[in-house]
Amino acid sequence: MRSMMYLIKFGGSVITEKSNKNAVFKKSVMDKLAESLASAGKEYIIVHGAGSFGHVLAKKHDLNNGFQSDKQRIGFSMTQTKVQQLNTYVLQSLQKQGLPTVSIPPHATISLNNHVENEFQKEIYYKYLSKGFIPVTYGDVVLDKALGFSICSGDLLIESLSESFKPEKVIFVMDEDGLYKENPKMNPNAAFIDHISSEELNSLNTKLDDHADVTGGMQGKIETILQITNHNVDVLLLNGNKPDRLYDALVGNKTKYTLIQR
Ligand code: IPE
Repeated sequence: MRSMMYLIKFGGSVITEKSNKNAVFKKSVMDKLAESLASAGKEYIIVHGAGSFGHVLAKKHDLNNGFQSDKQRIGFSMTQTKVQQLNTYVLQSLQKQGLPTVSIPPHATISLNNHVENEFQKEIYYKYLSKGFIPVTYGDVVLDKALGFSICSGDLLIESLSESFKPEKVIFVMDEDGLYKENPKMNPNAAFIDHISSEELNSLNTKLDDHADVTGGMQGKIETILQITNHNVDVLLLNGNKPDRLYDALVGNKTKYTLIQR
């Protein structure tokens, strides 16, 4: 649709202290990333993860397994508010850089059916984009036709939005530099991958066993990447703790990242 639009995912482990059971927003990291987006001056749709604002409560109330008891209702309600609070912090960082963001909450625009997309009202994204706004959405708890409710991850949103909007690229802003040929935590000399085709990534993926996590901790990511490249969209993985990398990747400067091309 918009050829120079970039679809960006800020991982929950980049913008929050994910392992902290108290929800902690990494404001200085988010502020720098917001600066990179503003300086690069492209069009964006932004998706962010929930990190410690979502996963702690969702686990405590067993929300991803669906509606099983009345007690979960307040857990769903509190989780929804907590991730919305993180969303407000993200919007404030972006607005400080003059970026005209609009929050689009998944719990009001999406429903799932046994964890997969059921309905997703995307017209609102088109309308805001066409008026020059930057839609921002996030991992959330949502209605689920089969389960009552479940979790809608940022990766599910990214995959579905990339299919509809065909961005120039999907950029995953992570807390790792990108992909390696072997698990970098098992082999510190594992070779870094600058550039790989989706076919090569697919064969690398099937060769790897469960212990050979080439992202160094982001299992499941490769499946999402391959689905996005199936929609004819290139994917870039980069480290959000080195904020210059996001800026450099957006403006076409040489920097460290992994590019996965269809
Ligand atoms: C999870 O979203 C949403 C909830 C737990 C409510 P994500 O799966 O996108 O979050 P991160 O990036 O892993 O933190």
